[in-house]
This record gives sequence, C-alpha cells and structure tokens, in this order.
Amino acid sequence: MNNFKLYSQYYDLLYKDKDYHAEANYVLSLIKQYKPQTKTVLELGCGTGNHAAILCNHALKVIGLERSAEMVALAQQKNIQNFQPIVADIVSFTLAEKVDVAISLFHVISYLTNNQQLIQCFQTVHQHLNTAGIFMFDVWYSPAVYTQKPVVRVKKLSNSEINITRIAEPQIHYQQNVVDVNYQVMIEEKATQKITTIYETHPMRHFSIPEIALLAEHTGFELIHTEEFLSSQTPSENTWGVCFILRKK
Ligand SMILES: C[S@@+](CC[C@H](N)C(=O)[O-])C[C@H]1O[C@@H](n2cnc3c(N)ncnc32)[C@H](O)[C@@H]1O
Repeated sequence: MNNFKLYSQYYDLLYKDKDYHAEANYVLSLIKQYKPQTKTVLELGCGTGNHAAILCNHALKVIGLERSAEMVALAQQKNIQNFQPIVADIVSFTLAEKVDVAISLFHVISYLTNNQQLIQCFQTVHQHLNTAGIFMFDVWYSPAVYTQKPVVRVKKLSNSEINITRIAEPQIHYQQNVVDVNYQVMIEEKATQKITTIYETHPMRHFSIPEIALLAEHTGFELIHTEEFLSSQTPSENTWGVCFILRKK
C-alpha cells in the first residue's frame, strides 16, 4: 500500500490547523491517569513526529514506528530530543526494549483493515509492553460512520510557495467495515502556477466497542475504558473518533 508516499511532503501543511498540543496534553492526562509512572512510550504510526515532539518535552522517551520512510525523514529533520523514529510496519516489528505505554493517534489503527493485521499488531504491541502496560488508540467508530455517513470533503491550504486543494471522496464497503477515502491533491506552485495532481486511496476500517473488546481479549489485553477522543464524552452515534484504552493482562 502506497498511501502517504507522495502525500507525506504536504502532510504538515495539510494539518497545520490540527491542535497537536491539545491532543498531546490529552494523551499525557490519560497516561497520568492509567500509568502514572510511565517513562517510555511506543508510538505506532508516528507520522512526522508532531505528537512526539510535545510528549518528549514532558520527560518521556518516545520510540516512533512509521511505515512511510518519507514521514520518518521529515520527523528526523525536526531533531526532537528523546525521540527515535524508525521505519517499520506496526503489524510486525521487533524492538530490543519494552515500554510502559503504547499509543497510536489519528486513526492509525483504522489503517489496519483486516482481522489478521489487527491481531498481529495487538499481539506484537503486547509483547513490547511492560507488566500491566497500557495501549491506547483512537479509531473511527462504526455507529457514527453509519449514522453520519462519510461525505465528500474539500480542504484548501497554502503557504508562501504553494496552494493545495485536497478532495476526499469516500466509498463505503459495507461488508468489510471499511471506507476507501480517495484523495485527489492538487498542488499549485505560486511562482509558476504549475499544477501537480496526486491521487491516493486510504482504506479506513471502523470499529464498534464489542469488536475491540473481543480483539483485546483475544490478544491478551483487557479493554478498560472508551471515550470520545479529546472531549472524554461517552461515545455516541455522533462520535467519529473513539479512544480505546487497553491494559496488558
Ligand atoms: C493519519 S496519519 C497519522 C500520523 C500521526 N500519528 C499524526 O497524528 O500526525 C496515519 C499514519 O499511519 C501510518 N501507517 C499506516 N499504516 C501503518 C502501518 N501498517 N505501519 C506503520 N505506519 C502505518 C501512515 O504512514 C501515516 O503516517
């Protein structure tokens, strides 16, 4: 799967309005609540290191796993102290050390669309956690996906050099609990008005609470809490992103 290969160079611009500080502070509050003595964190799908940059400022050592070498290169350029981004697939990886907490933020687990990938990822995370370690992640939530239905979205952003227009067109696969998000990204160079167009498809799986509870049970975890990501509200049919907190049994 080639997603994020071309798109990665525009990633930070596309998400420049995303509140990484609020999200990292939210994660820190969950760590404080569920694993207060945490020193080491494994971040699955760390992207360009935007959450890690903040977490590492709070005396945490973060190892980041990221499939896109382009995203890892961008993360490395940020020279974040105590952050080690590694090109790796979260479905199967081997690290020399265990960590206190594993996190996966901004729907990374939704990129694992089949059961085998999910089981393998959860089992591998389990192997890399210390006793009673915590695994927390946010994913798309099936009740909201089927109530609200994904729609076509257009996002426009610019910096001093380029204008970007991104069109996201969803295609629902009811049998798989998967939505293919078909991205068309048009990049216009301001100086020359030359337009380059990139196409990428991101298949996204969505989950229900009993489904994650079953997956957790099957892979040696206990599902201890669910809430709306960031707001901490009880998940409802209006909650697109749900945060799941699992403890290693
Ligand atoms: C929406 S981005 C989120 C990145 C980052 N967590 C953030 O919040 O900015 C999803 C990321 O997950 C990564 N990813 C998806 N599947 C992966 C896999 N199997 N192994 C490693 N990384 C993966 C993608 O390359 C991409 O960087």
